Amino acid sequence: MHPNLNNYRCTVSPPMADNELPVDQVATMDLNDDAVQRHQFSDRVLIKSILTRPDGGAGLAGQQVRVGGWVKTGREQGKGSFAFLEVNDGSCPANLQVIVDKDVADLGQLVPTGTCVYVEGMLKNPPEGTKQKIELRVQKVVDVGMVDPAKYPIPKTKLTLEFLRDRIPFRPRTNTIAAVARIRNALAYATHTFLQKQGFLYIHTPIITTSDCEGAGEMFQVTTLISDADKLEKELIKNPPPSEADIEAAKLVVKEKGEAVAKLKSDKAGKEAISASVTELTKAKENLARLEERSKLKPGIPQKDGKIDYTQDFFARQAFLTVSGQLQVETYACAVSNVYTFGPTFRAEHSHTSRHLAEFWMVEPEMAFSDLKDDMNCAEAYVKFMCDWLLDHCFDDMEFMAKNYDKSCINRLRMVASTPFERITYTEAVELLEVAVKEGKHFENKVEWGIDLASEHERYLTEVKFQKPVIVYNYPKGIKAFYMRLNDDLKTVAAMDVLVPKVGELIGGSQREERYDVIKSRIEDMGLPLEPYEWYLDLRRFGTVKHSGFGLGFERMILFATGIDNIRDVIPFPRYPGRADL
Ligand code: 4AD
Ligand code: MG
Repeated sequence: MHPNLNNYRCTVSPPMADNELPVDQVATMDLNDDAVQRHQFSDRVLIKSILTRPDGGAGLAGQQVRVGGWVKTGREQGKGSFAFLEVNDGSCPANLQVIVDKDVADLGQLVPTGTCVYVEGMLKNPPEGTKQKIELRVQKVVDVGMVDPAKYPIPKTKLTLEFLRDRIPFRPRTNTIAAVARIRNALAYATHTFLQKQGFLYIHTPIITTSDCEGAGEMFQVTTLISDADKLEKELIKNPPPSEADIEAAKLVVKEKGEAVAKLKSDKAGKEAISASVTELTKAKENLARLEERSKLKPGIPQKDGKIDYTQDFFARQAFLTVSGQLQVETYACAVSNVYTFGPTFRAEHSHTSRHLAEFWMVEPEMAFSDLKDDMNCAEAYVKFMCDWLLDHCFDDMEFMAKNYDKSCINRLRMVASTPFERITYTEAVELLEVAVKEGKHFENKVEWGIDLASEHERYLTEVKFQKPVIVYNYPKGIKAFYMRLNDDLKTVAAMDVLVPKVGELIGGSQREERYDVIKSRIEDMGLPLEPYEWYLDLRRFGTVKHSGFGLGFERMILFATGIDNIRDVIPFPRYPGRADL
């Protein structure tokens, strides 16, 4: 069942304590004052500052305000004498009821769903018995952004999230995508708040990189060789390269001009005549050089010794979009100790699952002087903080999600915020899975020590076995990245994954290998080239330090929080195999 994404009306959320107000709200309302405050940067009032007051806005009756927003539903009433509009400006899930008289405006223009209205009027208490606590009686329509209902991309019917994926520019007009945007925003704010409170510095790591962090070869390449080759091909068609004969002719001109100069000099000609002749010789030489240069131009990608010649590429070497900012952020962790990066990451995996994107955002804290246990403690505290934050700051949006997508999502946040995460070693995890198989549980993927846990295994552990978040640690070294610290058993590494219900793997992290000799041989054993990692090895050569960190998949956190099924619906502009709209 898909909810009607256009017709949702929300209940007003319970009030928050003053000291918990987000900054944007502080700027626009004052709970101790009955005067509604204008938005600081426009002459309107945010609908949130009317409707999310403890009294639902009732106390604002009699005030003159301007509001702007988009019509969710509109209908003419009283034989066309007035219109009811449900207007939403995205500041909160609730719509403001707006009433417009036919004397004030052409009602037919205002009622289509999607119309933008910017109106001024008086807030009034509606008649007893209506749901609303306050409504706006319009006195003046300041502006209208009209919609032709026959052509509007978001029809007023029940819409599926798949359908909306083909309407990316208009998706944010729906209740669901707007609620996801507010939840996503709140989680980003929570992330910075949590880490900043703990003294972490926000470091901007590069998007374009020349090192493959995960060593998995899933990188998108960044190159101008192809577009340069295309440009050259077009240019050579328009302006063909010189032939041998053209070059010979130009050489002849140079020879003749040279001889002319020599003759003038031996004839002891005047200064002016010699200088004019030298100018002509110079021109002829320049022309020859230009022709010779152009004759070297060859269509296609430049090659050297049978391979692509990357020295001619933009960065004079192969470059890629980053799969993780970890390696680079480690340079700062090994200098200013507690840092994080939070940015887009890119993986050219051809996976079409509901948990993978080709472009996703990752939060990556990195801590010097911290081991695997500290890393797990930090990950657990961070996830709990985000759960609490959503309950405190986004309760109305969470209620929307509970009503329309996943009735257990609020309880899940409460449970995760208050329950210690289970912690088990990889070896214990495999033993538990083997017991489950013996007891009749069927998994698609075989269970044995050494396998990479599949999503079905992870979800069994967190959803069925423990029914809460589980941290699995100490994985076999063969299935994990080269930078993870080798344990004393020489078989496992100090890695940890945080698994949560609904999603499976939410976080992947580890203590980093800080011993120069060990990490060097790990790189070599994995068959990776040493050269691109020399700078990374240098961090171990000079002033090495015990350190650890992790990466949280930001979209996976939103899936976990909202209960939405597909990761493509929790990022504003999803990129996955075959699709990169806008
Ligand atoms: O486990 P991963 O690959 O870890 C790293 O990249 C480390 N360098 C992080 C670190 O230690 N600083 O990725 C981290 C998380 C995963 O747990 C998952 O939540 C998410 O990123 N993730 C993806 N999310 C969406 N689409 C994909 N294709 C993802 N791949 C990983
Ligand atoms: Mg992982």
